[in-house]
Order: sequence, then C-alpha cells, then structure tokens
Amino acid sequence: MSHGSGPRPATARKSADLRGSIRIPGDKSISHRALMLGGLASGETRITGLLQGADVLATGRAMQAMGARIRKEADTFIVDGVGNGALLAPEAPLDFGNAGTGCRLAMGLAGVYDFETTFLGDASLGRRPMARVLEPLREMGTQVRAAAGDRLPVTLRGPKTPAPITYRVPVASAQVKSALLLAGLNAPGITTVIEPVMTRDHTERMLEAFGAALSVETDVSGVRTIRLDGRGKLTGQEIDVPGDPSSAAFPLVAALIVPGSDITITNVLMNPTRTGLILTLKEMGGDIEVIGSRQVGGEDVADLRVRHSELSGVTVPEERAASMIDEYPALAIAAAFAEGNTVMAGLDELRVKESDRLAAIAAGLKRNGVDCEEGASSLVVRGRRDGKGLGSAAGATVNTHLDHRIAMSFLIFGLASEHPVTVDDVSMVATSFPEFMHLMTSLGARIA
Ligand code: S3P
Repeated sequence: MSHGSGPRPATARKSADLRGSIRIPGDKSISHRALMLGGLASGETRITGLLQGADVLATGRAMQAMGARIRKEADTFIVDGVGNGALLAPEAPLDFGNAGTGCRLAMGLAGVYDFETTFLGDASLGRRPMARVLEPLREMGTQVRAAAGDRLPVTLRGPKTPAPITYRVPVASAQVKSALLLAGLNAPGITTVIEPVMTRDHTERMLEAFGAALSVETDVSGVRTIRLDGRGKLTGQEIDVPGDPSSAAFPLVAALIVPGSDITITNVLMNPTRTGLILTLKEMGGDIEVIGSRQVGGEDVADLRVRHSELSGVTVPEERAASMIDEYPALAIAAAFAEGNTVMAGLDELRVKESDRLAAIAAGLKRNGVDCEEGASSLVVRGRRDGKGLGSAAGATVNTHLDHRIAMSFLIFGLASEHPVTVDDVSMVATSFPEFMHLMTSLGARIA
C-alpha cells in the first residue's frame, strides 16, 4: 500500500444473499506483539498466520532497524531476536505509517534505551495523542522531544538505568498498558501497571509465553494489577496468530443485514476481551452460531456461522466498550438496519482513533439517510430493517479521514441499503485487512 498513490474511491451496491465460507486473516494486535517480542527475545520465533497488513509490516521494519532479523519461509515468518536489553539504536527514524499500536508499543519498547529513537507517522497518526505513553516514560527517566505538544514526530532518549514505576493507566487503553510493560522489560526491578478497566490482554499472555516473570492479580471490583520483573530472559516461541475479530466484524455485520445471507467465518479469535460485538449483536437478535471452539496458541478460537437476522436496537452497556472499542463503526451499521434505537455511550476513546470515529460515523450515517444523534461521547442510531431510502442515489461520498474501519463499515452499509454508498478512499483498508475486497466479493458482495 502506498500512501502517496492518491485516494481510491469505492462504491457498494445492494447485494443478493451473501453465501460461502471465508478465513479471516491474522489478528493485528497479536501480530504486532509477535514481531516485537520475537525481535526482542533470544533465539528464533516462528510465526504463522501473521497479518501482512501495512501496519504490521511497519512494525516488522522497525524491529529490523533495531537489530532483529526477519525472514519468510513459505507461510512462516522467522524472527531472530536480539535478546532482552540488546536492541540496537536505529540509524533512521522509525516510520509507523497509520499504525497507532505499532508506534505506541515501540515507544515503550525502545524509549527506555540509552539511545535516540525518532517516531514518525502519516497524517492520521500525526494527529493522535501520544502523551498517554510519553508521561509514564518520562517517569521512568526518558527524555522526550516532541515537535508539537505530544504529537509526532517524537524523539525519545532513555536514561542509563530506567526506573521501574507503578502506574495506574488513566484511560482504558491496551496500548498504554502494553507500552509500559514493554518498557518495564528493560528496567531493573518490578514495573507495576494498574488497569482499572480490563483491556485486551495479549501482551500479558505473550510475555508469559516468552518466559517473562509476570503476575496478574484481579481484585473484587475487577481492577487488575500487573507486575513485571524486568531484565529477565525472553526465549523465542512458536506463535500461530488467530484471525482478527475486528476484521471479522465486517462480513459478520454484512451477513446479518443482507437478506437471505448465510456465511461461515473461520478461525476467529474469541478472547473474551475482544468479543463485545458478538455479544451485542446477539442481543440485537443476530443469528450467530459459535462452532468448533478450540485453543490456538493459548487463545480461544472458533468459527462463526452467521445468518441474516431481523435486528432490533439495544442499549449497549458502557462497561462493554473496551471489549469492542474497534467495533463501534461496524455496530453502528448494524444499528442502521435494526428496528428502533441503538444507544451507545462511553465512547470518548473513539475520538482519538485513526480518525475522530464518532464524528466520522455520524457524518457518514447522516449522508446516507440514517437518523442519528452524536453526543460528546455517545451515539444514538434509529434504524430501519428494510434499508428503504438509505444510501445515496446522488452518489454523495463518505469521508473516511484515512480510517480503514470507516471505509469498510460504509461499504458494508451499501450492501443492504436501497441506494449505493460511495466512500472517498479505500487505500487505508490495506493497513489491517488487505483481503477485504476479495473476501467480500467472494461472498457475493457488490463492491467495486
Ligand atoms: C490495540 C488497542 C486499542 C485498539 C487498537 C489496538 C492494541 O487501542 O483500538 O486498534 O493492540 O493494543 P487503545 O489502547 O488506544 O484503546
């Protein structure tokens, strides 16, 4: 994918029943972490199922720039790590493109080393707040130079000996938690991260698998205390990356809203910190059958059989937000084709994703005839099952603001609405789900 090749618009049209079986590519969160821990650990890490999206490839290049060797043999990525504590100073700035996860986690990983690292990104990443990671890194002794407040480009220089700290994560963010744990790997003693709201726990799981001395305690109110003893040895592992539930969200919602559909999505990660959307869609009346539940590489995985359903609006509990934070754009599309109101609250974090997703969703829905109300941190959508009058006969375009999930969500919308839906740019889809167009059209979706 090239950011420089100009925007590529696409249009989705009302489609007949979606049918068939598709395998979802690797989970983005796990793929980033596999390359980072593989690149850091001693010995060889073999990764199958790695997501080969632009975001993850940027992380791979960053790890190579810091000394890891990465090669591909058939479907396996083989990473030769440098050994914990032994990253090399990169000779050039690390460019993370559109990838917030890669950038923030790498800031933790490299930012506590006694060398300079500069972090760059595209226009979307350049607008995203970095203070949430920079503040705890400063507490550990890292010097920070940021061009504009806490925005990229950022240059970090770690101290001779980073201080292990105790830090309560102020926002529900797996990226902040993970950045700190990765920083803690290079600090002598115990780094403690307190997480009031549980977020995706792939970093904790993978650190344990690589041999880090890590413990997790959860109190009666659900607050998690994660302790990591730094400077231990990490040993290369075999990792099989399950399919990304955040990518599965798009065919899943598409099958629910396109009449007559019956599809199977295989190899979907079912880690409970990631399944909020499935739970919510089931509450809306979605016919989603979880089949073949199994364990892959220490994670729950299953196949999903999804059939068209008569959806009804629901109120989504705020405390569920962390387990479906990337899925609100897809949920909003399901809500547009559900009878009655769907109420979503506690969405502050959506404002600082690849775009201001709350604003982008509301604007896209309105442009396509959906009655909705955007609050400071909430969204209410009043849907209609038949999609009558929805879409844009005049060809009005949805502005995706360099956001892959906004693009995919509105293309799904256009499969069920009376009129077509056009999005201004699908080039960013390649950051997380390069196979999206191909897989959707293989099911019968009319997208071009
Ligand atoms: C991610 C954490 C979430 C999520 C992002 C991936 C991760 O971000 O939105 O797509 O892999 O840790 P926040 O930590 O900002 O919530």
